[in-house]
Amino acid sequence: MDLFYTLIFTVFPYLCLTTFVVGHGYRYVTDRYGWNARSSEFLEKKALFPGSVLFHWGIVFTFLGHAGGLLIPQRVFDRFGIDSQAHLAIAYWSGLAVGLAAFAGLLLLLKRRLTHPRVQAVNRTNDTITIGALVIVVGTGLFNVVFGHFNVLFTVAPWIRGIVTFTPDAMLMKTVPLGFKIHVIAAWALLGYSPFSRLIHIWSLPLTYYFRSHILFRRGVPRPGLPTSNR
Ligand code: HEM
Repeated sequence: MDLFYTLIFTVFPYLCLTTFVVGHGYRYVTDRYGWNARSSEFLEKKALFPGSVLFHWGIVFTFLGHAGGLLIPQRVFDRFGIDSQAHLAIAYWSGLAVGLAAFAGLLLLLKRRLTHPRVQAVNRTNDTITIGALVIVVGTGLFNVVFGHFNVLFTVAPWIRGIVTFTPDAMLMKTVPLGFKIHVIAAWALLGYSPFSRLIHIWSLPLTYYFRSHILFRRGVPRPGLPTSNR
């Protein structure tokens, strides 16, 4: 049994992390011109907008919540007067809001991808797998928030900190309910798969857009009598 836990909650996460790091390097070197979000906005805008906006805001805040809530030990929160009860309440309500937004957005994106003819024409199996995997990860996460009622602060949180600090302890996951186990295993698998999908675009946040000079676009309305260069 202990070997099983070690394989699933120590060996598997490190395998996924290795694939994540090496895979991104490999993809960057071998497919630099394919390093993008594969946007389909020019093919269909109307359905993309609500799905993409809901999903992106939801998932970005979900990431920040996971990083802050799981990677920072409870004793740090205690020092700021946030005990474990308050911590769990904040995690519950904020997790519910951002999780619902991400999940609703994903369902809209999945529907668009499977039903819109122009999007279907450029859709790859890889794109469907990526959105499908996100539906599983976000869906199980949301399920755990609503129905889980389990204190992760002294089980899942120290386990994940152990992984990132190279002091893993798989036995911390023993008492964790199945729904949480499925969520974390699916999340690790998606992390390992992400370098081979469109998810690489996450690492190309276009921050330089804020600092570069504006690009002006003018409508080319022809005016009689004016030479072309003055339009
Ligand atoms: C870091 C900030 C991010 C930026 C600037 C960004 C930007 C974009 C852009 C420009 C597109 C293409 C057009 C669109 O669908 O709106 C896109 C699509 C997508 N993004 Fe992001 N993204 C970010 C973070 C993320 C994250 C964290 C995830 C998931 C973990 C994600 C998953 C997706 C998916 C699945 C699509 C495809 C949607 C579809 O066409 O069906 N993105 N993103």
